[in-house]
Amino acid sequence: MTRIVLLENIHPSAIEVFEMAGFTDIVHRAGALQQDELIKELQGAQIVGIRSRTQIDQRVLEQVPTLRTIGCFCIGTNQVDLEQAMLRGVPVFNAPYSNTRSVAELVLGEAIFLLRRIPEKNARVHKGFWDKSAEGAYEVRGKTLGIIGYGNIGSQVGTLAEAAGMSVIFHDVDTKLPLGNAHAAGSLERLLAQSDVVTLHVPGGQPTRNIIDAQALASMKPGAILINASRGSVVDIEALHASLKSGHLAGAALDVFPTEPKDRNEPLDCPLRGMDNVILTPHIGGSTQESQENIGREVAQKLVQYLQYGATKSAVNFPEVAFQPLSGASRILHIHRNEPGAIGAFSQVMSKHGLNIVSQLLQTQGPIGYLVSDVETQVSDAVLEDLRQIPVTIRCERV
Ligand code: NAI
Repeated sequence: MTRIVLLENIHPSAIEVFEMAGFTDIVHRAGALQQDELIKELQGAQIVGIRSRTQIDQRVLEQVPTLRTIGCFCIGTNQVDLEQAMLRGVPVFNAPYSNTRSVAELVLGEAIFLLRRIPEKNARVHKGFWDKSAEGAYEVRGKTLGIIGYGNIGSQVGTLAEAAGMSVIFHDVDTKLPLGNAHAAGSLERLLAQSDVVTLHVPGGQPTRNIIDAQALASMKPGAILINASRGSVVDIEALHASLKSGHLAGAALDVFPTEPKDRNEPLDCPLRGMDNVILTPHIGGSTQESQENIGREVAQKLVQYLQYGATKSAVNFPEVAFQPLSGASRILHIHRNEPGAIGAFSQVMSKHGLNIVSQLLQTQGPIGYLVSDVETQVSDAVLEDLRQIPVTIRCERV
């Protein structure tokens, strides 16, 4: 019986997926567990589902040898020792794209609000003023949206913005197929010079650090809007502050910051606090009920596909093998050290037992190899035992 332990209040959509696949031994807990408790709870478990607060390190992996796969029901996977998991033949899955739509909707909403000067108007009404005026308020229809980073989120923002009547241009370091009527701006400089609203959807890291700096801001249209719901490191916050104060930019919306508070009681340290033409949100671009539900379903499906078919596509630490329907009577998943002779030793065991392989897939990644073999007939426990005795074998299972 497969034991599944889900921690940190994972959305019930995950349980639905497991139950539909025939798994019924499911523990569902609201909180995270500290190491000792975690190790105790995981005894005998084949699958663990976590979010960001559960640490799965080398000790946990060592002391829960039954664990076959880990699901991070979130985007980040830093909470898992990915290298150690890989070396033990444990693929780790996450849900990098389940919240794409949520971010895209927030960005479009912010573009509409900022072009209408709603944040300032809202603040004035709260303070007791009734400045009824159309000055500086524009529709998004007919305006140009410049998207920097036309990946999953960027391209979806473009689709929504076009539906609202915006014309969409984008800049990406890769050649991208434009959706709808969007087109590549040709360069970052051109995008900045042409856009009424600029939105960032690039990855973090050194290559994108401060791509919006003082010079980039100066080359934006007077009265333009800047939106950043990607990573805090991509905008020079001091330069943005100066540009807003000078009146060159009309407004901004930030969901991510160079340094973010560690908990709910710590205030955000940012010079833009208190500016009425700036929308500040606490990194909630992707945080909606729908995205939690999507994450639950997406990660659970990946875990089920691994257990039932050996599929590892989109695993973050493992050679990727796409889903393939079974072509024989049984399938053997053989995870081994990526060394010469591994496949030969596997084949020897198969021929010793008189087994015919009808299809086979091998993928390697660094120190490990992953061999998925469909066998014409049923595979006995004795075969698995022999395969496990091969010196390079890390793990061997039958599905
Ligand atoms: P993605 O990987 O699908 O797209 C990123 C795109 O940026 C790619 O097309 C890539 O070629 C492009 N790119 C990379 N460097 C570039 C550069 N220097 N200039 C122009 N384009 C460049 O990523 P996805 O899923 O669209 O996410 C985008 C960002 O949104 C990421 O930084 C991610 O961390 C962030 N994010 C923020 C959330 C929030 O809650 N605010 C939630 C989800 C993602």
